[in-house]
Amino acid sequence: MITTSELGAEGLEVFGLRRRFGEVVALDGVTFAARPGEIVGLVGRNGAGKTTAMRSIMGIIHPDAGEVRWRGRPLHDGARLQFGYMPEERGLYPQMPIGAQVAYFAQLHGMTAAAAGAGARHWLERLGLGERLDERLVALSHGNQQRVQLAVSLVHDPRLLVLDEPFAGLDPEAVDSLSDVLREQAAAGRAILFSSHQLELVERICRRVVIVDRGRVLADGTLRELRQRLPAELRIRVDGASDWAAALPGVRIARTDADGVVLVVEPGTDTQAILRAAQAQGPVEHFAYETGGLVDLYRQMVSG
Ligand SMILES: Nc1ncnc2c1ncn2[C@@H]1O[C@H](COP(=O)(O)OP(=O)(O)O)[C@@H](O)[C@H]1O
Ligand SMILES: [Mg+2]
Repeated sequence: MITTSELGAEGLEVFGLRRRFGEVVALDGVTFAARPGEIVGLVGRNGAGKTTAMRSIMGIIHPDAGEVRWRGRPLHDGARLQFGYMPEERGLYPQMPIGAQVAYFAQLHGMTAAAAGAGARHWLERLGLGERLDERLVALSHGNQQRVQLAVSLVHDPRLLVLDEPFAGLDPEAVDSLSDVLREQAAAGRAILFSSHQLELVERICRRVVIVDRGRVLADGTLRELRQRLPAELRIRVDGASDWAAALPGVRIARTDADGVVLVVEPGTDTQAILRAAQAQGPVEHFAYETGGLVDLYRQMVSG
């Protein structure tokens, strides 16, 4: 059992969250953290509990049990003014000009009218909408509406960003520009939590990944840490030899083909010993992991 003190008192901590909707257990004891300077990807299939976790953090729904802490203290609404939120259902006014709209949300977070106006212009320009401040939201494409939503979440200079599926429906160019903004924000010391089911994207952007399924955290760590916990596939080609690997400890032969043998290597197995055994057979032409990307890890963890 992880305790809150082990998570450290910096940034956001979510501890033991539980939430039912009737018979549906949306959160079944969810614990994770997002620290300043860190981009954390909350990953899982539809219905895994990502949105419910984020709504709990934002105080939109109340968990049945568990706690959300900010800088070591239980959260209160005042502290949430330091958060920037992009809700899954989005939440903008279709008929309102986008410049005025972003400024309005900035003022709701305590900014003066002048600072809010300047912040709105800054962020909409930064996100490529500087020429369109007076246009109504409905006049914009889906991707541009999403940019406005991002501007709303950033305009009050939040310490924590909670972004629910911010990449959903974006074209590759918009994905890149959003990724740049997130990296920049992390480098400036913000904590960032975002949800996605686009694993390649998460892999590219995140330092840490929290995999959720059926309201539980299946894994939490850097990609490197997650990889070390699971069996990995290692492809080896030794000139002239084929059945040498059968007797190696901690190893199972997955398949053999024209490009050598693929071994399933249990975590903790000494791969250098495997390399030496291969070299004892003849010249080693290929020795590399075949899997280990987030997509593979996710498939191994979330089965059934
Ligand atoms: N307001 C609600 N009323 C009833 N069921 C809900 C509600 N919100 C979420 N759920 C259910 O809780 C589970 C988790 O949903 P959600 O947190 O939205 O998952 P995700 O964001 O990972 O797709 C799902 O089975 C969903 O149908
Ligand atoms: Mg969701």
